[in-house]
Amino acid sequence: MQTKIAGIAHYVPERVVTNEELTRFMDTSNEWIIERTGIEERRYAEKHKETPSSMGAKAARIALERAGIEAEDLDFIIFATLSPDYYFPGCGVLLQRELGITKREMGCLDIRNQCSGFIYGLSIADQFIRTGMYKNILLVGSELHSMGLDYSDEGRAVTVIFGDGAGAAVLQATDKPGQGVLTTCLHADGTHAEELAMINPGSHGGYHLGQDKFGYPDPSVMGGMFVTQKMVDEGMLYPNMTGQLVFKTAVVKFPEVINEALSKVGLTAADIDLLIPHQANLRISQFVQRVLKLPDEKVQNNIQKYGNTTAASIPIALSEAWEEGKVKEGDLVCLAAFGSGFTWGSALVRW
Ligand code: ACO
Repeated sequence: MQTKIAGIAHYVPERVVTNEELTRFMDTSNEWIIERTGIEERRYAEKHKETPSSMGAKAARIALERAGIEAEDLDFIIFATLSPDYYFPGCGVLLQRELGITKREMGCLDIRNQCSGFIYGLSIADQFIRTGMYKNILLVGSELHSMGLDYSDEGRAVTVIFGDGAGAAVLQATDKPGQGVLTTCLHADGTHAEELAMINPGSHGGYHLGQDKFGYPDPSVMGGMFVTQKMVDEGMLYPNMTGQLVFKTAVVKFPEVINEALSKVGLTAADIDLLIPHQANLRISQFVQRVLKLPDEKVQNNIQKYGNTTAASIPIALSEAWEEGKVKEGDLVCLAAFGSGFTWGSALVRW
C-alpha cells in the first residue's frame, strides 16, 4: 500500500492586508518588504470569529469533497500548527468536533513542527497507511499569526512576513503501482531552537535563557505562571527571529534535503514536474530554484499574495497549483520545507 493525496484544498481569510496598510503601524515600506521578501500582501483572519481550527475545517470540507468521502469516513486527523486555538488541548480534537464527526474509533494528533509541519504530518500519515493501520487520514496545516505579532517598530522584521490561512489534504491508501508518496526525509537540529521561536508563554521558567530575565516570582514560592507582568510590559510575548541565520541555513538545507529525497528513489532534479517549497521568503525559493536549475513553470510560489503561512503554506500552494491544473496524474511533485527548530524535510509524491 502507498499513500496518495486524494483531495487537496485551502482556505484563506477574506481580509487582504497590503504592505501599505502595515506602514500605518510600523516604520516599514512596500519597497523594503517586496525587495527583501517578495511579499505584496497577506490575509488576516477575522478576530474572535476565525481560529486555526475553524479555518482548517473550511479547507478540510473542500478536501473531503474533492476526495469523494465524508468526514465520518476518516480514521485519523493530523493537525500541524504553531498558533493553536488553545495552549491545550490541540487543534485535532477541535477540528474533529467542528467537522461533526461522531465516531470515536479514531485518533487525533497535533504536531508542532512549524514550517515543516505539513511534511512531518505527511510522513506520519504515510507510515500509518503503509502499515495498513488507517485508510483515510486528514492532514491539516493552519495558522493564525495575525493575533500574535508585534505591530510596533521592534517587531517589523518578523511581522511583515507572516499571514493567516489553512490547507488540508485527504490521504488515502492506494495499490496503484508507482502512485503516491515515494519517500519523505525528516531532519532536525535543536542547536538554534531559540533563533526562530516564540518562547513565551511557556513552562521554561527562565531556565534556558537566564533566571531573571522574565520576571518570574521567587523560586521558593509555590506554583508558577506562564505570563508575568514583565513579559507584558517589555513586549516579550512575540515571536523572534534571527533572520540572516535562518536565511543562510535555509538556502543550504532546502536543496540538500530535496536532493536527498531524489537520490533515495533514483531520480534527479530534472525529473521534478512541480516543486512546492514552503513559502518562507521569495528570495529563498528563487535561490533554491537556481541551485536545482528548475524553470519558473516548475516552481509554485504564492508568498506574494499570502505571506508566510508556516504549516499552511505548502498545502495552500499545492491546492492552488492543483486548481490551476498544474498537477496532473503521473507528475512528480516535490514538497520541501525548512523552519523553526530548526526542522526541515522533503517529500516526493507521484500524482
Ligand atoms: N521594514 C523596514 N526596515 C526593516 C524591516 C522592515 N519590515 N525589518 C528590518 N528592517 C531593517 C533593520 O532594522 C535593519 O536596519 P539597520 O541596517 O538600520 O540596522 C535593516 O532593515 C536590515 O535588517 P536585516 O535583518 O539585516 O535584513 P535582512 O536583509 O536580513 O532581511 C529578513 C530581513 C527579510 C527577515 C531576512 O533576514 C530573511 O528573509 N530571513 C529569512 C527568514 C525567513 O524567511 N523567515 C521566515 C520565517 S521562518 C521560515 O519559514 C523558514
